Amino acid sequence: MNNSILWYATRGAGAVSLVLLSGVVVLGILGATRFEAPGWPRFLTTHLHRNLSLVAVLFLLLHIVTAVVDPFTNLGWGAAVVPFSSYYRTFWLGLGAVAAELMAAIVVTSLLRGWLGHRTWRLVHWLAYASWPIAVAHGWGTGTDSGAGWMLALDVVCIGSVGIVLAARLLGPAGDPLAGERVRFRSGVQRGPRQ
Ligand code: HEM
Repeated sequence: MNNSILWYATRGAGAVSLVLLSGVVVLGILGATRFEAPGWPRFLTTHLHRNLSLVAVLFLLLHIVTAVVDPFTNLGWGAAVVPFSSYYRTFWLGLGAVAAELMAAIVVTSLLRGWLGHRTWRLVHWLAYASWPIAVAHGWGTGTDSGAGWMLALDVVCIGSVGIVLAARLLGPAGDPLAGERVRFRSGVQRGPRQ
């Protein structure tokens, strides 16, 4: 395959992955706060969160595979699997590998959620709060297009949207008044007799 096609594919798929993953994080936070609005039922957030994350994983795989097989950089699979082992842009590519591995853990535990139990799944899912900013730093640090207007605009939109919903979650009223009850129900603890 033509080397420059691979190079453009890596950059394009990297940018698309970042946008999709930011959307997934936004929807995840909205889901956790039980957000709904006229014309936007709660189940839409949950379904979009799940389906968008699977599409994001496909683009992320494309990004990683095209980066690794590109003969110009000659990264090798080790660079994608073992963080900070790449001879090329060691630190920034290492961040990409860490972000991708954290995301893999989140996706795999979500697919196995029925077996793992809610508490374990939730603990792993919190890794999204580490993985997303690490991915942003990776893209910014190593991207050829980091200084381009369109990429800067994408970064601002991604960081801005996650920042806004996160701030709304942290500063807003407690999202789920039944959260305690839900956790007790999932862990099989029975409610005491009504007084
Ligand atoms: C969650 C994980 C990741 C995300 C969201 C992500 C996203 C991005 C973004 C947004 C860029 C900048 C693209 C541009 O400037 O147009 C980029 C660049 C790059 N990424 Fe990733 N990446 C991830 C993981 C990885 C991994 C695991 C590798 C493995 C080797 C990798 C290899 C590269 C390379 C080589 C570039 C530089 C491309 C260039 O020359 O501009 N990325 N990535």
